[in-house]
This record gives sequence, C-alpha cells and structure tokens, in this order.
Amino acid sequence: MKHFLNTQDLDRAELDALLADAARYKRQLAAGQRMGDELAGRSIALVFFNPSLRTRASFELGAYQLGGHAVVLQPGKDAWPIEFDLGTVMDGEAEEHIAEVARVLSRYADMIGVRAFPKFVDWSLDRQDRVLRGFAKYATVPVVNMETITHPCQELAHALALQEHFGTDDLRGKKYVLTWTYHPKPLNTAVANSALTIATRLGMDVTLLCPAPEYVLDQRYMGWAERNAAESGGSLRVSHDIAAAYAGADVVYAKSWGALPYFGRWDAEKPLRDQYRHFIVDEEKMALTNQAVFSHCLPLRRNVKATDAVMDSPRCIAIDEAENRLHVQKAVMGWLAAQAEVRG
Ligand code: CP
Repeated sequence: MKHFLNTQDLDRAELDALLADAARYKRQLAAGQRMGDELAGRSIALVFFNPSLRTRASFELGAYQLGGHAVVLQPGKDAWPIEFDLGTVMDGEAEEHIAEVARVLSRYADMIGVRAFPKFVDWSLDRQDRVLRGFAKYATVPVVNMETITHPCQELAHALALQEHFGTDDLRGKKYVLTWTYHPKPLNTAVANSALTIATRLGMDVTLLCPAPEYVLDQRYMGWAERNAAESGGSLRVSHDIAAAYAGADVVYAKSWGALPYFGRWDAEKPLRDQYRHFIVDEEKMALTNQAVFSHCLPLRRNVKATDAVMDSPRCIAIDEAENRLHVQKAVMGWLAAQAEVRG
C-alpha cells in the first residue's frame, strides 16, 4: 500500500505526475470547473496534533472539491490523547493507543492525514517521526504526512510555484538559496529539510545559508540532498556568508529553525540565535540576486523573517505557493484513491 510520507519515497515519474495533476486541477478551477469526482464517496480523517491554517483549510476544501469528505480530529483537544510507545503501562495522559486509533480510523476513512510536530525535547526521539510512523504501521489505509519532521505537501506546492514562475518544469541549474531567518522561538526543521530535499531533487544549485554550523540540518536530510544533487546534476553547499549566498540567486526561500545541538535546551540557544536577527530577508539582500523570486511556507512574522517590502514585492510568490497547497493535495488524494481502486 502506498502512503505519502516523504517525496523521497516517490520515483521521479510519480513526483512529476503529481505536479502535473496539481497544475491541471489549478487550471480547471481557474476555468470554472470547480468540482471533480475523484474522491466521490470517499473520506479522509485529518489528525492534527498542532495548529494549522493552510493545511487544514486546503485539505478540507480539496477533499470537498473532489467530491469527498474530510473529518478533522485534534487528539488531546476534541479527541482522546494517544499513546505511541509499545508495551507501556498507560497510566499517564493518553486514553488510547495508536494501535487502536489507526485501525479504527481505517475502518471509517479511506485515508488518514497526520500533522505531528516534534515535541522539541529530544531530537534523537523526534527524528524517529514516531507519530507518523505509528499511523503508517497500524493503518490499513494510506497515510498522508501533513507536516511532521518533513513537509512533503509544502514541497510540492513550492515546486509547482517555481515551475509556474519560471514557465518550465525544468528547474535544473537555477541558483537556489534556502536561508535561515530569525524568529523569537525555535521552530521545526521540517520545511527546511523539505526545501533542501525537493530543490536538489529538481536539479537546482542549492545553497543552505545559515548563521553558524549549529544550524546545519540533520545528516539524514543533508544526505538526501547530497544524493539527490548527485543524481539530478544539481549541487549542494553550505554557506554562512550572506552576501556570497545571495549573489546571483534565482530563488530565495526563507525559513527559521532551531539549532539541533541545542534541541530541548532552548534557553541556551537563545543568545546564539539572538545574534542573527540580521538574517531577515530585506530589499538590500534581494538586490544582490538575479532578480530572485522569494517565497516562504507561511505563516510568516513580517519584519522579523522578511520585510514588508519583500513580502509585498511582485517577486514574492508565497501566496501562489499557499494556493498550490490546495491543488497538490488534491493530486495526492486522487493518486492514493486511484491506487486503492487498482488494489480493489
Ligand atoms: N505552511 C503550512 O503548513 O501552513 P499551516 O501551518 O497554516 O498549515
């Protein structure tokens, strides 16, 4: 059974097909064809352990636009807290185990979407992606990653936005900068992991710009990016030099994240992070680029991560990228539904 957990699990033909389907859904909606029937009579359970604006709205509306139905569950809020450890004596907060939750939801719904950010205490545990893996282990229907320690739906939306902007599916050779930006809190590395993964997969010349070696991403994702670059003909380098990284860039993608060596010790990281407020994306930096397009996954704190001028510039495609979430997720849900049909 196919899940949609990471784009690395997809071969290039599957990845390209999802992007092509998403582009078709977007054209159809623009032409006034609002409804499809790919999910007619089907449903998706959307399990949110963390807040969301875009992901929740776009999955719910996307399912509706394909004739399906979405139900949202928030464990610990409007659904029972869940235990993920095996063999544990459940005398804490959790009222039920993932072994029952995933199996029960599989009897109701045709797919399960999961959003589960790290707990931000111990990276060696969080990097196991246990919540998503738990759903995938026990569910008997496809599971969709709605952001855990990667964000593959955002990857597809970002890739489609870049293809639209450059007017071509072939992004090879574009100079791509993933820049760390300041944020007052330590944030998830998921979108950064994903940006490196997809940008190298698509053959771009990728620079990870971060303030210090502590902000380099987990070796699993650096390794994926290195392998992708080797296979696609792209490249990957790490830079701590703002001017050199921005120089001649075609794409600037911004994200903030917490430094992994300080994971769970955020008071100790704060004095380091607070030195790097100047990593904000502003007009001065963008002027160094090759008229680069700018994007961010959103939500974004204006004048902390990027200035008003950058966000309001015609070269900012963050809203297009957010719009694309609707269409790439329809493509993912339609693909998984079609796979299930083939299986019978
Ligand atoms: N980009 C993104 O996933 O947005 P939300 O957190 O609002 O869902």
